[in-house]
Amino acid sequence: MKIILSTSNPHKVKEINEIMDTNDVEFILPPDGFDPDETGTTFAENSLIKAKTAWELSHDWSLADDSGLCIDALGGQPGIYSARYAETPQKRIERVLKELDGIKNRKAHFTCCMTLIAPDGSIAFACEGICKGSIIEEAKGTNGFGYDPIFMPEGYNKTIAELPEDEKNRISHRSKALVKVIDYIKTQVL
Ligand code: IMP
Repeated sequence: MKIILSTSNPHKVKEINEIMDTNDVEFILPPDGFDPDETGTTFAENSLIKAKTAWELSHDWSLADDSGLCIDALGGQPGIYSARYAETPQKRIERVLKELDGIKNRKAHFTCCMTLIAPDGSIAFACEGICKGSIIEEAKGTNGFGYDPIFMPEGYNKTIAELPEDEKNRISHRSKALVKVIDYIKTQVL
């Protein structure tokens, strides 16, 4: 079974393919320049918008995720604005560290919402995955992407950017959501 994966982020594609544990599902990328407007007000709405945009092009199985970092002391920000919080990944990290300067409550979590659209255009399955942790004082590590260098998952004393990829893939918000999608596909579709 082929599923269009509604993203242009190569890191996500790599992660998702590494998490996949079945050869029965093949993810295909949308055409170049695929760039749906993320006009939703929640991760769930944005993942639905992205999945629908991919479905409109293909009329085939389409999966989209929308994810981001939510920081308790910032009222859940950057949240759905995670990718747009500043111009570059480095500047986004700097902005978060500056906004948390002097703040003791460093609790945060990554959220990932996924929406799977069936070939008839209906929503087949939607779910969420969460990875809890905290924001450290300065960036550490070079693996992963985005806010990984400042995010320390619960139960670890390293940032996600200091963990090997397979370890991130075991605990990440995206893998938790994807496991649910794969379970749905295996039990209800294949
Ligand atoms: P999306 O592509 O609209 O889902 O935006 C996701 C944004 O949230 C990314 O550009 C990153 O800034 C951040 N983000 C999502 N997942 C991760 C992750 O696994 N590690 C670090 N940052 C992430």
